[in-house]
Amino acid sequence: MTNQTESAYFDIDQITAPTPTVDQYMRDYVASASLPKNLIDAIDYALLGGGKRMRPILVIRAAEAVGGTIEQALPPAAAIELIHCFSLVHDDLPAMDDDDLRRGRPTLHIKTNEAMAILAGDAMMSLAFQLLLDRIPDETTAAKIMSELAVGTSAMIGGQVYDTLPDFPSDLTPLDQLKTIHTHKTGALIRGACRMGAVAAKANDEQLAAITTYGEAIGLMFQIVDDLLDITQTTEQLGKTAGKDVEQDKLTYPAVLGVEKSQAEITRLLEVALGALSPLGNDAAQLAQIANYLAVRTK
Ligand code: IPE
Ligand code: IPE
Ligand code: MG
Ligand code: MG
Ligand code: MG
Repeated sequence: MTNQTESAYFDIDQITAPTPTVDQYMRDYVASASLPKNLIDAIDYALLGGGKRMRPILVIRAAEAVGGTIEQALPPAAAIELIHCFSLVHDDLPAMDDDDLRRGRPTLHIKTNEAMAILAGDAMMSLAFQLLLDRIPDETTAAKIMSELAVGTSAMIGGQVYDTLPDFPSDLTPLDQLKTIHTHKTGALIRGACRMGAVAAKANDEQLAAITTYGEAIGLMFQIVDDLLDITQTTEQLGKTAGKDVEQDKLTYPAVLGVEKSQAEITRLLEVALGALSPLGNDAAQLAQIANYLAVRTK
C-alpha cells in the first residue's frame, strides 16, 4: 500500500503477541462487574471476536519503550479497548453509519437490538474508568491515566459529531475539515493509547513528548489507511461493509485528495512517527514495527 523504506519491517506474530493476555484480562474484568447477564453478554460480544487490538498493543509497547512492564500496561490496555469497542458499537448504529457487519459478524444492534447496543456502549464507557480505579494501585497514576482516557474519549465523540453532524466554519477548507474529523474520531484514542502506556510506566517529559508525536502521526495515518481500505478491499477481507464511505458521502482522504496523495500522506506520517522514536533508541523497536505494519495493513 505504501513504499516500504529500508527500515520498514514487521513481524505480525510479534506485534500481536500480547493479544490473548489482553483478551483474558478484559474477559475477567467484565465477568466481575455486577450487571444484568444480558448486558454482560452484549459487552462480551462487542469486545471479543476478531479485533486487531491495536490500541491495547500500543499501550503495552509504549510502556515498554519507556522502561515499563506489561503488568503496568494491562489496566490501561483493557480500558482503552473498552472505549474503542464502545465507539464501534455506536458507530454502527442505524442513526450513525448503519452497518450490519463488524469483525466478520453481525453488529451488536443486529445481534441483539438497538436499545441493548446503546446501553452496552454506555456501560463499556463507565467500566473502562472503573477498571482503571480498581486495577491501578497508585491513585495518582490512576488519576493521570483516567485523565488521558477522558481527553481521548471526549475528542473521539467530538470527532464522531464532526463526521456525522458537521458544523464547521464556512472558511475551513475540505482538507482542514477532514484533518479535524480524523484526528478527533480516530487519532485521539490512538494518541491516548500511546500516552496512557507511557504514563503507566512513569515516562519522563522527553519520553512522553516523543511518544505523543508518534501517537499523533500513527493516529491520523490509521484513519487514512481505513479510508483507503474502504475503497480497495472487499467486505469479506475487512469483516465490515466495504464501500460504505462513498455510499454515505463521507469526507475521506481518497475522496478529497485521491488515492495517490493519500498514500503519500501515509508515507509522510510514517516517517514522522519513526523519526519521533529516535530519542527512545532500541527500546522503541516494537513501536517502529507497529507503525510499519499500520502503514501497509490490509484489514
Ligand atoms: C476501526 O478500528 C475503526 C476506526 C477507528 C478506523 P480498527 O481497525 O482498529 O478495528 P478493530 O478493533 O481491528 O476491529
Ligand atoms: C470510525 O470511523 C471512528 C470511530 C468508530 C470512532 P469509521 O466509521 O470509518 O470506522 P469503520 O470503518 O466503520 O470501522
Ligand atoms: Mg463512522
Ligand atoms: Mg463506520
Ligand atoms: Mg471506515
